[in-house]
Amino acid sequence: MKYEKSTRILHILLMLTVLAQLLSEQFMQVPKPGKAIDQLAGFIFSIHQFGGFVVLIVAIAYLMTVLDRDESRLRLFPWLDPAKRKSLITEIKCDIPGWFKGVLPPPEQAHLIAGTVHGLGLMLATGLGLTGSIIYLGMKHDGGMPPAVHTIKELHELLGTTLWFFVVGHLLMALLHQIKGHRVLQKMFTANDEQ
Ligand code: HEM
Ligand code: HEM
Repeated sequence: MKYEKSTRILHILLMLTVLAQLLSEQFMQVPKPGKAIDQLAGFIFSIHQFGGFVVLIVAIAYLMTVLDRDESRLRLFPWLDPAKRKSLITEIKCDIPGWFKGVLPPPEQAHLIAGTVHGLGLMLATGLGLTGSIIYLGMKHDGGMPPAVHTIKELHELLGTTLWFFVVGHLLMALLHQIKGHRVLQKMFTANDEQ
């Protein structure tokens, strides 16, 4: 299946902004009450905050285009439809054991597990943007925050760790498909994939 231009553009935007968030998080310093802050690391935190709003906008735009059409809605959220939900469970039972023996069906044959994980990844990016925005609104300049915002920050950290698992798994699966000759990278990143 060839991806539409709008999906390919939104995916590149989402990929670049989310990767920038994961990178900035490695070098930033979050202000804490009574603790001196390194100028550069504090500036990188500002980039993380600004980038967070961009991720949120891109993720919402992605969700809006996806939810607008049945085909794409059920591609990313197959569990919303009872018949597709049954097929998803069958795919999980049949295909996952095969993965450990090196059997990976092409996306044309089996795409419900991949679609579900992609949909959850998109929701994860949206969730990080939402929790990040709440932290932004609830945090004082010196880093102090009320207990409720602190809980949201803990949730943001949990979602952030989950996002690492998603991104690494997603990249490895894309590479595995590519090695098997399924040309998923061309389908997602190029305008014309003659095959
Ligand atoms: C690290 C570099 C990345 C590469 C090489 C990559 C590659 C791909 C490929 C090849 C597909 C199509 C898979 C298929 O047809 O089975 C895809 C789909 C998708 N990727 Fe990525 N991706 C990357 C990063 C990300 C990131 C950071 C996110 C955001 C959380 C993301 C979210 C998605 C989503 C939501 C889809 C589903 C597209 C749709 O069906 O609308 N990707 N990606
Ligand atoms: C306005 C938006 C955002 C704000 C204000 C914000 C703020 C923060 C803060 C304060 C932390 C540090 C938590 C701590 O360890 O004390 C953090 C960590 C993190 N953020 Fe954000 N964030 C925003 C958006 C995002 C987005 C959109 C993503 C990714 C899609 C993201 C990814 C991460 C990750 C991966 C961590 C590290 C979590 C961990 O410690 O394991 N953030 N963010």
